[in-house]
Amino acid sequence: MPLNPQLDTLSDYPFEALRTLLNPVTPRVNDPPILMSLGEPQHQPPPLLAETLAANADKWNQYPPMNGTPELRRAIADWLTRRYRLPAGALEPDKHILTLAGTKEGLYLFSSLVVPREKRGQQPVVLVPNPYYLVYNGAATMAGAEAVFLDATRDNRFMPDLAAIPRATLERAALFYLCSPANPQGTIASLEYLKQAIRLAREYDFVLAVDECYAEIYDRAPPPGALEACAALGDDFENVVVFHSLSKRSSAAGLRSGFVAGDPRLIGHYAHLRSYGGCQVPLPVQAAAAALWRDEAHVEANRDRYRRKFDLAEEALAGRYGFYRPDGGFFLWLEVGHGEEAALRLWRDAAIRVLPGGYTARAAAGRPNPGEPYIRLAIVHDEATLSAAFERIRRVL
Ligand SMILES: Cc1ncc(COP(=O)(O)O)c(C=O)c1O
Repeated sequence: MPLNPQLDTLSDYPFEALRTLLNPVTPRVNDPPILMSLGEPQHQPPPLLAETLAANADKWNQYPPMNGTPELRRAIADWLTRRYRLPAGALEPDKHILTLAGTKEGLYLFSSLVVPREKRGQQPVVLVPNPYYLVYNGAATMAGAEAVFLDATRDNRFMPDLAAIPRATLERAALFYLCSPANPQGTIASLEYLKQAIRLAREYDFVLAVDECYAEIYDRAPPPGALEACAALGDDFENVVVFHSLSKRSSAAGLRSGFVAGDPRLIGHYAHLRSYGGCQVPLPVQAAAAALWRDEAHVEANRDRYRRKFDLAEEALAGRYGFYRPDGGFFLWLEVGHGEEAALRLWRDAAIRVLPGGYTARAAAGRPNPGEPYIRLAIVHDEATLSAAFERIRRVL
């Protein structure tokens, strides 16, 4: 059966690889399993979500508009303007914003929009931070680009070193997926960093797509955003888009609701492409999403709960495994020597599932896999479960 040959370049999805590693192993302890491998929010979304879905229950018969309802796009424009202190009127709902069925599908399809067959007569490049959210790499290779991995290690504060990207690579670049706060390391790109990335995108004419889906889970300071950096540069949103989601902000991963916003030319072409291959979002879901973007109280409460989890983590793990308190997101990125071995040991001897860091990164250009010495833990459970988990980790590792 003929298949797209690019499929062979995709590695196993990390959770498949993790099942292969751990499913044959039965924990030796009777403790209840604690699954810290998956970044799935465990808090409940606010009642507003179910109430708004119910109030719009007469709309399931209707085909929803692909680009999003005017109400939802207005709510998003208002939220972006407040959150990133954008000039009033800088964002027009029908020019700068498209709704998505969660950011995953939008991030994936986006490469089909912006990766040409050739750039300057060569195979185009998609720049991908390493470690990375697996979709970036899949999107790059399935669009026929070469994924070039930019290692984000302790040495560069877990953000790719922009100044180190060779000029020849930048010239071939069609797209740069950047993630801030970064999954898995929790690093927040500074406004200055974002400005530098935007300048590069414009100078070398590629698209900067910033995945900001953890933007509302932060410890001290709100992460700056790429649209904010565009405004600080004093320009429009040329060559820049951002992706946002309600999955983490509102603990609503099951709602499947996100958006992309930015350069109106890109948004216009993306709307065209999405009319063929995008996912529509049901009208009751769009109504619930609009209500959630308009409410901040539940987001603040959510953030406070994550802060308490990080307090617990810090009390239990500071001084061990290279622990640092991440600036954003809800993962711990612990340096344990060999991530796969540690994950096996934690499952076998403590019934805890974590993700080996190497599964979300890769060895590239002769360099070792920068995730290999690490494990990633999602700090999403209730405090009692987390305390038990940290105690078991200290016992076993
Ligand atoms: C970095 C990153 N981007 C995007 C997503 C996709 O989120 P969603 O499709 O739920 O919006 C995730 C989900 O875990 C993620 O970790």
